[in-house]
Amino acid sequence: MGNAKSVSVTDVAARAGVSLGTVSNVLNRPEKVAEGTRARVLRAIGELGFVRNEAARQMRSGRSRTIGLIVLDTGNPFFTDIAAGVEHTAAESGLSLFLCNSDEKTERERHYLSLLEEQRVYGVLVTPVLGRSTLIEDIRHRGTPVVLVDSGSSRQQCSVSVDDVVGGELAVGHLLRQGHQRIAVVGGPVSIKQVADRVAGGRAAFRAAGRDPRQLSFIETDALNVAGGRIAGERIAGMPARRRPTAAFCANDLLALGLLQEMTRRRVDVPGELAIVGYDDIEFAAAAAVPLTSVRQPRMQLGQAAASLLIEEVAQAETHRHRQVVFEPELVVRESSDAGE
Ligand code: RIB
Repeated sequence: MGNAKSVSVTDVAARAGVSLGTVSNVLNRPEKVAEGTRARVLRAIGELGFVRNEAARQMRSGRSRTIGLIVLDTGNPFFTDIAAGVEHTAAESGLSLFLCNSDEKTERERHYLSLLEEQRVYGVLVTPVLGRSTLIEDIRHRGTPVVLVDSGSSRQQCSVSVDDVVGGELAVGHLLRQGHQRIAVVGGPVSIKQVADRVAGGRAAFRAAGRDPRQLSFIETDALNVAGGRIAGERIAGMPARRRPTAAFCANDLLALGLLQEMTRRRVDVPGELAIVGYDDIEFAAAAAVPLTSVRQPRMQLGQAAASLLIEEVAQAETHRHRQVVFEPELVVRESSDAGE
């Protein structure tokens, strides 16, 4: 067994009795190499202890074979489902994935954007903390391709997103059709565009029903997580009965699960005393103690589409035309809001 540092592609080619190009094909495009030849090369690699030098390859090509994905919260299954979609498509092109968590903080986002640029990643997929980021524009102009994920964009940039205004309208329209008069939106901070769009959709549903959109109350939380949902539940439970909402539309499923947990702890019947609707339709929504009605986002497809757009942009280079892919959300009605529509 050779020392991995000293063994070269040339040594492998000589050992297997093939050309350097054949060894390269076995490493990068094995489907192009006859099975017998591929086996001979792989045997030589094993016998010599050859390890490909990714750093050297990156120096030659100028770019790594790794995609950087920056999401708002790796504790949210919505984003890990997106990452699974990215990884599925990336692997089909021989690419790997760096997953980074901005934790909904712009300074963390900037840190990872700079790190990924320095690492000369293949490209960056990012769910921006705020609508616009000058650093994203800067690294794009310096040559790092960037596709926005779960965020719309101008025609000058590729993006994949879901129409969250439609999603908010689906959720609140459903609660209005259930006969609810006092409906609250739970979620925040509203600086996150996905939240703002869902609230706007809820107000559009009120207008479509001939109701004053100002009657849609808003309970802002510090973060879009289970703890935020529990805190919202405490605030709802503390309201005078005549002002307390009979239905809550939560900006994501983690908030809805936290609200459901707090209502259950307080023995408040869901949906009888408080109907709850979430957003994302993560796996735990259907599995909740009271199965959660939710607005489904196509998470795997979002991730796959984002990775495909990035690979297309890199392959087409100067001829690439940016595309903005928008998916439609879907309302999935379950026991947490279903009094029979
Ligand atoms: O990150 C907050 C929310 O925005 C996620 O739950 C998902 O809905 C995303 O669109």
